[in-house]
Amino acid sequence: MLGTTASRTLLLVGVVLTAHMFLCTAYVGGDGFSVEFIHRDSVKSPYHDPSLTTHARVLEAARRSSSRAAALSRSYARADAPSADGAVSELTSRPFEYLMAVNVGTPPTRMLAIADTGSDLIWLNCSNGAGAPAPPPGVQFNSSSSTTFGLMSCGTGACRALPDASCPDSKCRYLYSYGDGSQTSGLLSTETFTFADDQGTRGDREMRVANVNFGCSTTMTGSFIGDGLVGLGGGDLSLVNQLGADTSLGRRFSYCLVPYSINASSVLNFGPRATVTEPGAATTPLIPSEVKAYYTVDLQSVKIGNKTLAAPQQSPVIVDSGTTLTYLANELVDPLVEELTRRVKLPPAKSPEDLLPLCFDVSGVRKGHVAAMIPDVTLGLGGGATVTLKAENTFLEVQEGTLCLAVAAPSDQFHPVSIIGNSRSRTCTSAMTSTRAP
Ligand SMILES: *[C@@H]1O[C@H](CO)[C@@H](O)[C@H](O)[C@H]1NC(C)=O
Ligand SMILES: *[C@@H]1O[C@H](CO)[C@@H](O)[C@H](O)[C@H]1NC(C)=O
Ligand SMILES: *[C@@H]1O[C@H](CO)[C@@H](O)[C@H](O)[C@H]1NC(C)=O
Ligand SMILES: *[C@@H]1O[C@H](CO)[C@@H](O)[C@H](O)[C@H]1NC(C)=O
Repeated sequence: MLGTTASRTLLLVGVVLTAHMFLCTAYVGGDGFSVEFIHRDSVKSPYHDPSLTTHARVLEAARRSSSRAAALSRSYARADAPSADGAVSELTSRPFEYLMAVNVGTPPTRMLAIADTGSDLIWLNCSNGAGAPAPPPGVQFNSSSSTTFGLMSCGTGACRALPDASCPDSKCRYLYSYGDGSQTSGLLSTETFTFADDQGTRGDREMRVANVNFGCSTTMTGSFIGDGLVGLGGGDLSLVNQLGADTSLGRRFSYCLVPYSINASSVLNFGPRATVTEPGAATTPLIPSEVKAYYTVDLQSVKIGNKTLAAPQQSPVIVDSGTTLTYLANELVDPLVEELTRRVKLPPAKSPEDLLPLCFDVSGVRKGHVAAMIPDVTLGLGGGATVTLKAENTFLEVQEGTLCLAVAAPSDQFHPVSIIGNSRSRTCTSAMTSTRAP
């Protein structure tokens, strides 16, 4: 069951910088569950490529960022002009960075799906039992072999919440597009999902959730990794909102990131456990977004040392786990680069492929000494929240000896969207939304 279509009030995004090294233990007792938030390049991922160096992985992630940012901005363009159907002609990919495991059906099939904070629909690679099984590491969900599988009919709230649904035979058939030409279609279904609880202090636990609405996808266009996608966005169909509507967990989740060069997992928390309580947590209201899925906050200023740069009026910024770089308006990136150039006493270097606006040559500097040479960057957010980013969050080593600012200006000049990306290792981001009566 889904919530009503009432508008969503803002609540909180706490962006936390903590001294905790690995898992940001947001768990304070009570209910909820946690699953591994698996970076696609981490050793836990089937897409881990051991032949790549850490720097090569970072460079790949920076490259993926610009496609992702362009795709997120194209969804805005479509929200502006929803009738402009043929507008999406070129097929680019909308890359993703993190995966999560879901156990689908009864008996459960373990599937590894993209975990996407920028979209809502949950969909899985599905078959009705016909055809050959998926080649490893791919897994297909065989709906005929589950006793809890059901189809959703057209009149349901979930079917009406879909942006594009049709009802040829009273079944709810969807077509879900990602603003970049990639899309998936199938039948809207319902199933029991079981989540392994990785952080349970009471030993191994599982969280079973019945009647989760998801798309049983039989066609996909575009390049997706994994066995499907779990939408964690702000809209009705996302896992976060379904858990909020169907369980006592509330509409809240958080993700805590570790550097993916480290052999430890980032974590995704749901329910009360998502509440971040560490000292230094900053809370800022979520602001309404044209694209309901996006978690959007108000960026007011960027401060470097004692220099404060005011953001342009109305600077909504999407907080997204699937984008590695941070994208800010030109009006902020230019003076930020200028100020860092003035303050950081390191020789300049050229950015690989001109991807990033500012790089330094750190080949002559001892490893531990670089961070101390880079000033903190503080983001001023709505409601007076401030988040201080350390060098490890603002800079990435994209090549051996080349350290670059992980901030760029949006390439799409028509719909320049700002994004706070995931280059925030050792931080937690927590979002809560509630539904207000219309
Ligand atoms: C799907 O499940 C049905 C029922 O259990 C079974 O007969 C069929 O062989 C399965 N198909 C595949 C591809 O595993
Ligand atoms: C879904 O599974 C089929 C069958 O194994 C596979 O051919 C296809 O590539 C998969 N699609 C995606 C998007 O993973
Ligand atoms: C990562 O850690 C796990 C245990 O936590 C270990 O089994 C595995 O071998 C490690 N992998 C690498 C590549 O170090
Ligand atoms: C700001 O910091 C810079 C560099 O540390 C210093 O030179 C300058 O005097 C400071 N300005 C103010 C107004 O404190």
